[in-house]
Amino acid sequence: MKATIKLPHPDILSQLPRPLLTWYQGQSAARELPWREEPTPYHTWLSEIMLQQTRASAVIPYYQRFLAALPDIASLAACDDETLMKLWQGLGYYSRARNLKKAAIVLTDTFHGEMPGDFNDLLDLPGIGRYTASAIGSIAFGLPLPAVDGNILRVVMRVLGCREDIAKPAVKRAVEDALAPHYPTGKDAGDLNQAFMDLGATICLPHGAPHCARCPLAPLCLAHDEGCEQELPVKQNKKQRRQENLTVLLLRTGKAIALQKRPAKGLLAGLWELPHLKGHLTAEEVQAHLDAHGLSVQEIHRLPDARHIFSHVEWQMRGFEVLLKNPDSGIVAEDNTPLVWASPQELAETYSIPAAFQYFLRTPAYNIRTSSGS
Ligand code: ADE
Repeated sequence: MKATIKLPHPDILSQLPRPLLTWYQGQSAARELPWREEPTPYHTWLSEIMLQQTRASAVIPYYQRFLAALPDIASLAACDDETLMKLWQGLGYYSRARNLKKAAIVLTDTFHGEMPGDFNDLLDLPGIGRYTASAIGSIAFGLPLPAVDGNILRVVMRVLGCREDIAKPAVKRAVEDALAPHYPTGKDAGDLNQAFMDLGATICLPHGAPHCARCPLAPLCLAHDEGCEQELPVKQNKKQRRQENLTVLLLRTGKAIALQKRPAKGLLAGLWELPHLKGHLTAEEVQAHLDAHGLSVQEIHRLPDARHIFSHVEWQMRGFEVLLKNPDSGIVAEDNTPLVWASPQELAETYSIPAAFQYFLRTPAYNIRTSSGS
């Protein structure tokens, strides 16, 4: 049977909307963000997907570039995958972009190219969960739906002085259910969700001391009253990430460098990557591997080590730059993936290379730059 969570002092929740809306809609509290200028369903959807794993300030240039290239649902549904990946390069979690396109195709086929203004229809679309459906529903359609993410959970757990573990889905659901009856409709619905987001981002901070002296909810906040703001929310530690050691190769002939395409399924599916080998190899072992595949090494240098963290795995990368005499052969990966040779211009304009490999492309020794900074 599903455990039901009882939140302490749930009556306090009815008192949150008014001071929060006054604060958000007043002089200067709301952050100026481009998706707030014209919150159409498409703009709101795109921004919410980009914002799922990324800070607002980092999202802004991606959002603007994406909209300039794909201004509406029809252009998103029709765009080719390489363009889509290039627009997303550096944002990470690329399945978000693939799901955007899949959903745009569903909208074109089933909803006359428009987003539906209904929570359950939104929830049925690829890549849209309860949080995102609520954010779109409230901001773009004025539906009274609390968009419960880490920000709202932190604020609510502190205000209620609640020590339930926010990593539990049942706690999130309990907060959603307890807040929903107090939500307004129309513009205030979206404003209230964005007020929670801004309060969480600028005042009720997750790390370090929150700025309670400036908080519109401080007079109601039980954690503030008890001086235990920084102990809340309680969140159980996530599972440890798996560590993988890789040896990444920046193979060069003149200015061109070797790339290979990742498999169509799994982590970073279908994106371009630098060739790499499992484990941490020495320069001699790398050279022997390349020799065995008919690639003769003119020079080999160690690059600075790099680390990249994904949600479930962490790559510890050792890098080598290798100047080759002959690029004729060119199968280096353990799975025999063929190499392509990319010029600096093609690297910048054509190939989508995930952030995990960008450390090696930014090395001063080669000064190869792609268009994305992250
Ligand atoms: N994070 C998620 N959605 C957001 C929004 N609409 N504004 C600011 N930050 C957000």
